[in-house]
Amino acid sequence: MKITTIILAAGKGTRMCSQLPKILHQIANRSLLEHVYDMSKQLENNAIKIVYGHGADLVRETLNDLDVSWIEQKQQLGTGHAVQQASAHFTDSDTVLILYGDVPLLKLNTVNALIKNVSEQSIALLTVNLDDPTGYGRIVRDASGQVSKIVEQKDATAAEQLIKEGNTGIMAVQGQQLKKWLNQLGNNNAQGEYYLTDVIEMAVADGIAVITSQPESVDEVLGVNNRIQLSHLERVYQLERANYLMEQGVTLMDPARFDLRGSIDSLGTDIIIDVNVILEGKNSIGNNVRIGANTYINNSIIADNVDILANCIIDNAIIGQGSKIGPFARLRPESVLAEQVHIGNFVEIKKTTIASASKINHLSYIGDATVGSRVNIGAGTITCNYDGVNKFRTIIEDGAFIGSDSQLIAPVTIGKNATIGAGSTITKDSPENQLTLSRAKQITITSWQRPVKQEK
Ligand code: UD1
Ligand code: CA
Repeated sequence: MKITTIILAAGKGTRMCSQLPKILHQIANRSLLEHVYDMSKQLENNAIKIVYGHGADLVRETLNDLDVSWIEQKQQLGTGHAVQQASAHFTDSDTVLILYGDVPLLKLNTVNALIKNVSEQSIALLTVNLDDPTGYGRIVRDASGQVSKIVEQKDATAAEQLIKEGNTGIMAVQGQQLKKWLNQLGNNNAQGEYYLTDVIEMAVADGIAVITSQPESVDEVLGVNNRIQLSHLERVYQLERANYLMEQGVTLMDPARFDLRGSIDSLGTDIIIDVNVILEGKNSIGNNVRIGANTYINNSIIADNVDILANCIIDNAIIGQGSKIGPFARLRPESVLAEQVHIGNFVEIKKTTIASASKINHLSYIGDATVGSRVNIGAGTITCNYDGVNKFRTIIEDGAFIGSDSQLIAPVTIGKNATIGAGSTITKDSPENQLTLSRAKQITITSWQRPVKQEK
């Protein structure tokens, strides 16, 4: 069976009150449309077509990388009109699956169950029972319980409005039949639109059975029309991610205060994550890792037994086994730490590799540097890597000891086991095994008198 999936995504989304087309709004850092795309991509033998319209240029530009065909609907004259634009893009024998670009959490299982119901004698419709079906098309059934038509809220009689079974809008239809019915659509209704939903009544008239199925959870078929619904689906999505991680052996101190906006491509066991942690991009986390509260991690690799204390920012970094980071540390891109490295509070690291067992525990900026192993960098050390135009590297060899409050003016090399006296401004390479310091001599002025306030 060949599938053509048509994702309807031309609508404006007025109630988002946004310059951005609705389908580009995001859940977990991925656009609504991409969520639908990601799910559809898992269907076998499937070609994806996107009907777009509102915000056309921005949509195409933003989602240029998707493996789909783009079909422009210049005027949005209804869901039926939208599918009509795609009718040259599927063949008679295709199973045509209709999805909405603003219904982001639909599950593959639900779609697979739906598609099973399509044949030359049947059309498959996804419906949902709702406590409050306001705004939804209603599924009208005959005395024997067979679906006879879908009526839109605005066209429904008072009796039809009491129906709780709503149309999700998601359906699957055999290509040849869909083409035939699309040709017959009119717009003689309350909204003057071409309703895709009218194909249901046409199917019944042609003796085609309408087979309905339901999603496991209502959240799967909820659309985003405003920012309240967007935030609801964000939380639904996040709780699903959290539950998945807990099932894999991660302890989340509070699953309601955890956000995964990306993926964890490699996940160890006995990871403990405290509250308000945000993981973005692609991360890898080893065994027995602890991540403290209020920590943000992006595109990073964290090896086994790493302890990240509260309030750290870790961005495009690699942290070796047994290292200890934070609290209040910032690892910027291209920070590469080997095993047992300690980075303490108010330390910023950028484009720097640090070999094993080195320590930078307090108040330092180390950028564009290569730090050897067993190096101890004292509080307040700064690599002066930038002259306003160019960046220069600092090399600190194995076993060096940098006294507190030192500035290392790059390019500069601190030799193996060298010691730098506290408060030094180091402008020249410092030899190995020696003490180097640059410091004004301490003097005491014995005759000095402290000024005294005059009594009035
Ligand atoms: C539609 C259904 C309704 C169903 C509801 C579920 C019809 C006539 N009605 O109503 O039965 O209960 O969805 O949410 O189908 N779109 C286009 N081009 C258009 C019009 C819409 O691409 O010309 C897209 C929208 O961007 C959106 C989707 O189709 O993704 C649904 O459109 P919307 O206007 O939200 O349909 P509803 O009136 O809510
Ligand atoms: Ca809608």
